[in-house]
Amino acid sequence: MANKIAKILLKDLNKHPGKTVEINGWIYNLRSSGKIAFWQIRDGSGWAQAILSANDLGAKQWTAAAKATQETSVKIIGQVNKHPKKDDYEIAVKDFSFYQIAAEWPIGNKEHGVDFLLDQRHLWLRSPKQWAIERVRDTLIQATYDYFRQNNFIKIDSPILTPSAGENTTELFKVKYFDEEAYLSQTGQLYLEAAIAAHGRVFDFGPTFRAEKSKTRRHLTEFWMMDAEMAFCDLAANLDIQERLIKFMVLVVLENNQAELKLLERDTAVLNNVMKKPFYKMTYAQAVQELTKLGSDIKAGQDLGGADETLLTKKYDNPIFVMNYPAKIKAFYMKRNAADSSLAECADLLAPEGYGEISGGSQREDDYATLKKRLKDFGLKEKDYDWYLDLRKYGSVPHGGFGFGLERIVAWVCGLEHIREAIPFPRTIYRLKP
Ligand code: 4AD
Ligand code: MG
Repeated sequence: MANKIAKILLKDLNKHPGKTVEINGWIYNLRSSGKIAFWQIRDGSGWAQAILSANDLGAKQWTAAAKATQETSVKIIGQVNKHPKKDDYEIAVKDFSFYQIAAEWPIGNKEHGVDFLLDQRHLWLRSPKQWAIERVRDTLIQATYDYFRQNNFIKIDSPILTPSAGENTTELFKVKYFDEEAYLSQTGQLYLEAAIAAHGRVFDFGPTFRAEKSKTRRHLTEFWMMDAEMAFCDLAANLDIQERLIKFMVLVVLENNQAELKLLERDTAVLNNVMKKPFYKMTYAQAVQELTKLGSDIKAGQDLGGADETLLTKKYDNPIFVMNYPAKIKAFYMKRNAADSSLAECADLLAPEGYGEISGGSQREDDYATLKKRLKDFGLKEKDYDWYLDLRKYGSVPHGGFGFGLERIVAWVCGLEHIREAIPFPRTIYRLKP
């Protein structure tokens, strides 16, 4: 029987030196000189140069090869050869066939405006930088699952269609739900609070929605949130889990995505540092004091604005927990600080280098009567939260949790200017397409 030609991925070229293999991919660049042509091939797993020679191919295939265009999809049979100088492998093409000869590629090498590129997002995803971002994003997702599974959490999927607000009432997306009104989920937290009484430690990871009217480099209207919730847990233990999780996520990226970080021209000094020392901790009051010194006009009692987060975190080389915000500017479910009941027993985690909030967490109010009063104070209807109040009636326990925004972490780890490149198909106030 004839030897079957192995169909391999470009990332595995080094495992097949001298062998004839089949590669399936796209030509992302091409040039020719005289009787030699060079196709730069990518297949999703990696890149390589394919070399075509008129003499080896014969007249018919050499003429066909001239029809190739940028992004043409192709099957190549060729021999894997070590590059004479570089630590790279090339393919000497023996035969090829096109799947489809691509029309003129709209994304050139010249600088394009970001709106043009976002209109072309379905094509832009193929470019090396965007490729690298998606790979890092995938690593961060995998690392999250791994961390939780290794730490006795199970994944509980929270609903996306919800009857009431999970976080605040100002940024809800309303949808018609038969004869009722429903909202797209802002967070799975409330449902995870139910699940801890069954499982102890749980997390969810899915799309969440905020009708954010703000056009900032940190906000999307649809983003992926991971919520974690722990029974029998105080804020100190909560922060410890967050710190270990983020450190683990960064470590796994550093171990697996050096090539991607290089493509992104990410200065990895800070990322390398993340593992080495504890995250910073400061109170909200200290943060306001420091911000005032730095020139912010923030007043005590006000939330940190985007500009404040940038200002503060630019000064730091590691993430910072900002703790105990005024309860008034935080969500209804937060427990109050034991020493000062005007403060929430909470913390936001801010990424350094100007990135700002990546995660928010708190101790949850676990007392029935207090929570009932809070709902009222926040103008929320008790009947909408009767099931949530129930949880304080049937074996309530001290508990807490946190939620991170995946795209905020992707943006920081990849060193991106703007969050919109951290998700494959961004949704913002101005964009629902493609
Ligand atoms: O701080 P947030 O609003 O907290 C919650 O929703 C809690 N219920 C989470 C919990 O305790 N389980 O949102 C959590 C995180 C933020 O820290 C931020 O990283 C991200 O979600 N986030 C956004 N990311 C992109 N675009 C937006 N519009 C975001 N809003 C929040
Ligand atoms: Mg927050």
